[in-house]
Amino acid sequence: MESKGSGRFTMSRCLRSGDTVHASVVVTLLLGVWCASALEVSVGKVPFMEAMNGSTVLLPCIYSSCIGIKNLYFNWHYNDNGTMAKLCEGVIPIEGVEPRVQEYQERIEFVGSSKHNNISILLFNVTFEDEGEYTCFARNPKEKNRNHSAVFTLFVVDELKVVDNTVTTIIVSVVGGVIGLIIVVMVTKTVVLLILKKSAEKNAGIRTDSSSATASPL
Ligand SMILES: *[C@@H]1O[C@H](CO)[C@@H](O)[C@H](O)[C@H]1NC(C)=O
Ligand SMILES: *[C@@H]1O[C@H](CO)[C@@H](O)[C@H](O)[C@H]1NC(C)=O
Ligand SMILES: *[C@@H]1O[C@H](CO)[C@@H](O)[C@H](O)[C@H]1NC(C)=O
Ligand SMILES: *[C@@H]1O[C@H](CO)[C@@H](O)[C@H](O)[C@H]1NC(C)=O
Ligand SMILES: *[C@@H]1O[C@H](CO)[C@@H](O)[C@H](O)[C@H]1NC(C)=O
Repeated sequence: MESKGSGRFTMSRCLRSGDTVHASVVVTLLLGVWCASALEVSVGKVPFMEAMNGSTVLLPCIYSSCIGIKNLYFNWHYNDNGTMAKLCEGVIPIEGVEPRVQEYQERIEFVGSSKHNNISILLFNVTFEDEGEYTCFARNPKEKNRNHSAVFTLFVVDELKVVDNTVTTIIVSVVGGVIGLIIVVMVTKTVVLLILKKSAEKNAGIRTDSSSATASPL
């Protein structure tokens, strides 16, 4: 509630009358650019993931369209060493209506939802052969059947993380120990230097006393 109010305050402070016109022009332009690309498919900000063999992974994909969709065709395919293997395909009749999806691989399951523009799939029991590029493809007849796609890369790993952690722990302890040792050495050095300086001052004082004592009779 409070942050909203302060946000509006900053806005009104920044946008004086002339700026408001500019801002609306910019917004219109942005909308125009955004709408020109109509349909968009995305596999998320991080287009890859590491999965352990035997696990189940979500291959994410969402679409968006500002002109709306009608009979949106989509599929997922896997780049199997150059040949594209189709994993599943479906058609979303209109927004909000769930598609009938055909799955061509028994370990694939469509888990998307038209309500959330989600056309993600699950891949069960991952094997090392599943590593590679998965393409989420979509085509909206509303925009001259232009093709859109996004690629998600899957890496399959064995349980190596535990070993890595042990190595990391060892490295961290060694580095920590060395840094601790350096600190101890430096503190010791400072203390010793301080003591030496103190005793040197004392010695100097004694010497001045003795020199003045020997000098005075002369
Ligand atoms: C992963 O692969 C390794 C080596 O092939 C195998 O020993 C292990 O059982 C596999 N793990 C699972 C969960 O399938
Ligand atoms: C993939 O292709 C390369 C070269 O084209 C070949 O050497 C390799 O054996 C192929 N791998 C599989 C899994 O088919
Ligand atoms: C995944 O593996 C488990 C255990 O091996 C098996 O019960 C299950 O049916 C498999 N799931 C699929 C979709 O293959
Ligand atoms: C898509 O749906 C799946 C399954 O319900 C869910 O796990 C995933 O988070 C959804 N993705 C997005 C971007 O909403
Ligand atoms: C879209 O892809 C299909 C193959 O899936 C191809 O036949 C068609 O020519 C492509 N359309 C455009 C406009 O690139």
